Amino acid sequence: MNADRASYAHVTGWGRYAPSGVLTNADLERMVDTSDEWIQSRTGIRERRVAAAHETTASMAAVAGMRAITVAGLQPDDIDIILLATLTPDYWMPSTAALVKEAIGNTRAFAMDVSAACSGFVYAYSAAQAYITSGMARNVLVIGAELLTRFLDYTDRNTCILFGDGAGAVVLSAAEERGGGLGIELTTEPQGAYMIWLPAGGAKSPSSQATVDRGEHFIRMEGRETYRFATRTLASTALAAIAKAGLQPSDIDLFIPHQANIRIIRSVADGLGLSMDRMFVNLDKYGNTSAASIPIALAEAADSGRVKIGDRIVIVAFGAGFTSGAVALEWTADPARGALAEAIRPEDITVRLPVDWDSVDPVPAALVDILARPVAPGVELDLDDVVPGEPEHAHPS
Ligand code: ACO
Repeated sequence: MNADRASYAHVTGWGRYAPSGVLTNADLERMVDTSDEWIQSRTGIRERRVAAAHETTASMAAVAGMRAITVAGLQPDDIDIILLATLTPDYWMPSTAALVKEAIGNTRAFAMDVSAACSGFVYAYSAAQAYITSGMARNVLVIGAELLTRFLDYTDRNTCILFGDGAGAVVLSAAEERGGGLGIELTTEPQGAYMIWLPAGGAKSPSSQATVDRGEHFIRMEGRETYRFATRTLASTALAAIAKAGLQPSDIDLFIPHQANIRIIRSVADGLGLSMDRMFVNLDKYGNTSAASIPIALAEAADSGRVKIGDRIVIVAFGAGFTSGAVALEWTADPARGALAEAIRPEDITVRLPVDWDSVDPVPAALVDILARPVAPGVELDLDDVVPGEPEHAHPS
């Protein structure tokens, strides 16, 4: 891995994967004391996706990653480094990135996970750019993937309405021509550590019957404090990245903010003095997919005609930690290449299971009926054989 230093790291490939299960606000009305009206008016979310029993963070990440590699016109072995941002890894170890490397058939890359919650993809993107411009790599696969529905308490209306599952990815490639990330800003705030957290299962509070009984393996959140942090920080982080790129907010064609809450996105537009038509929004369909939200949105923006060559785009995120990050970038790829992603079928990608090991049924009891109903028209194919060999009891009947 002794590539020459490159001046720039361009986005050359992009891809996304959303599981086919759909959890609507009407479904949540039947689980907790909430309403479609409350969820839509306070968050903008209408529905979110739920991974099936045979899907994992790695399987979704591998599909999105292979789609990005294909759109970039590369082969898996052209990738030098795989960076995977997630707060819901398949295992504590190995890294989910290592599972993805094997699943996509890459033999050369080193692979690692990046932990910065919802800002994880932006942090990983910035690391990828640094690897490329330092000469350590020519092509880096950057993935954001989350399976949040397995870490939610479906009796807690404060959190279970917000989050969904999915994966998105980009390939960054070395180039001498100007383009790609031009300005980057990353922050980690003091005093934000316990605003969004998953208390148990780590070294401070290892898994035990007591931690399970106390519901400490689910995400907890101080919603109002998080909201205040997001509205305070997102615009300033984006502004800093834009300034480092030598640009003004009015120069930016499209903002791709972390898809957490439509009211937070409106306040970013206000803070930057811009109208909402510069903000890309798809949280109505997917909810908050944490580290996956920006790469899913970026790929969807490119595939839906919202991006053209020469556009200036800002990706900007906030998340647990508290963390935030933004990249002001110039888009240089032909958006029409996104159609190549259709060649990658989820059922052709396999994440290998360990031998002699049966996982327990991973589907939260509250979601079993939702996953059993027929797939809505227009949503993606089921990943029936992503994990061949998964024990029969892992599948909802
Ligand atoms: N349905 C109905 N009522 C609800 C619900 C619900 N799902 N959830 C909360 N409420 C109630 C509250 O209990 C409260 O009632 P009370 O006044 O009787 O106490 C009332 O609604 C208002 O609650 P608020 O928390 O003030 O509601 P708010 O308008 O702030 O919206 C929300 C809550 C949506 C969580 C908002 O604060 C938010 O989006 N915060 C940011 C969350 C976020 O983005 N988290 C992800 C961070 S990224 C990461 O790293 C994972």
